[in-house]
Amino acid sequence: MPCTVLVCGFFGDTGKGKMISYLAIKDKTAVTARAGVGPNAGHTVVFEGKTYKLRMLPSAFTSPNCRLLIGPGVLVNPEVLLQEIQVTGSQGRVGVDPQCAIIEAKHIEADKKGYLAQKIKSTGSGSGPCNADRVMRVAKLAREFPDLQDFLVDVPLEVNTAINEGKNVLVEGTQGTYLSLFHGTYPYVTSKDVCASAACSDVGIGPTSVDEVIVVFKAYNTRVGGGPLPGELSWEEAERRGWAEIATVTGRKRRAAPFDFDLARRAVMLNGATQTAVTKIDVLFPECKGAQSYSELSREAKAFIENIEKELKMPVTLLGTGPGTMEVVDRREELKS
Ligand code: IMP
Ligand code: MG
Repeated sequence: MPCTVLVCGFFGDTGKGKMISYLAIKDKTAVTARAGVGPNAGHTVVFEGKTYKLRMLPSAFTSPNCRLLIGPGVLVNPEVLLQEIQVTGSQGRVGVDPQCAIIEAKHIEADKKGYLAQKIKSTGSGSGPCNADRVMRVAKLAREFPDLQDFLVDVPLEVNTAINEGKNVLVEGTQGTYLSLFHGTYPYVTSKDVCASAACSDVGIGPTSVDEVIVVFKAYNTRVGGGPLPGELSWEEAERRGWAEIATVTGRKRRAAPFDFDLARRAVMLNGATQTAVTKIDVLFPECKGAQSYSELSREAKAFIENIEKELKMPVTLLGTGPGTMEVVDRREELKS
């Protein structure tokens, strides 16, 4: 599977980071390019006993030889990026496209007040105001920043070259389908499209270069910030079910609801999914914690997965059975027809 795009089919926070960190190791991925908005996304990776919360760097740092690139469509906060490079020890394999727009203090300030903060309940990371400046063609780009000079690479060229050489490439989407500026629950959305085709554009590949689109769902649904969440539970009920989560970037409580088949079906359509992943199976079915083969799953867990496959008419090829990078049931070979 030379080029795989991975995106979320709900409202973000479905475990893309964990799945990317797994796939990069398993598939010996040569290049991972991060797409999506920017540092408003928090991807959590639990690897070799340590928890990493990444807002800029691709989650594939777990695979020692994988190049870690940030596509020109992505907003960069240099301070956050440099800190993550240091924490993950990934210096030397990180590349930032010169055309990435840069988040400055004024963007963060504007994002922490007024309409975006109060009505949309944005992450306060400066992403919306920076994308607005970019549309107005006044945002500064990575090529102008001395701190980033050592990292500048032509990301579309590197990604396309790797694809043409038959190497495995991952495109790491961020946010989620229903946070898309075009396809989400407007105005309660992020500041650009974040579906699979936008992710391709973010890193500079055309639709014909993509072999697989994996849409990731969680076994239940969550959302942070404003906007509709069908079937929303009270915080107490979410706690009772073990679905009470705290947001990675903002520390806010995530609102929770059961798995939503209507949203999931539409996400499969909007993203052109060829496979799906379902994470946090162990939260619904604790007896499945840490399972690495389908046969280890309980009858109830299998029935849950089979029902999703029937409803979405799409194979669930990857299952998350715990927060650790390798806690995955990988059915890709088994389901290949
Ligand atoms: P912004 O992207 O910071 O402008 O926030 C707009 C909305 O998208 C808010 O409801 C945020 O909570 C939500 N949002 C943005 N990025 C993410 C993400 O990566 N995960 C979950 N929610 C997000
Ligand atoms: Mg997140």
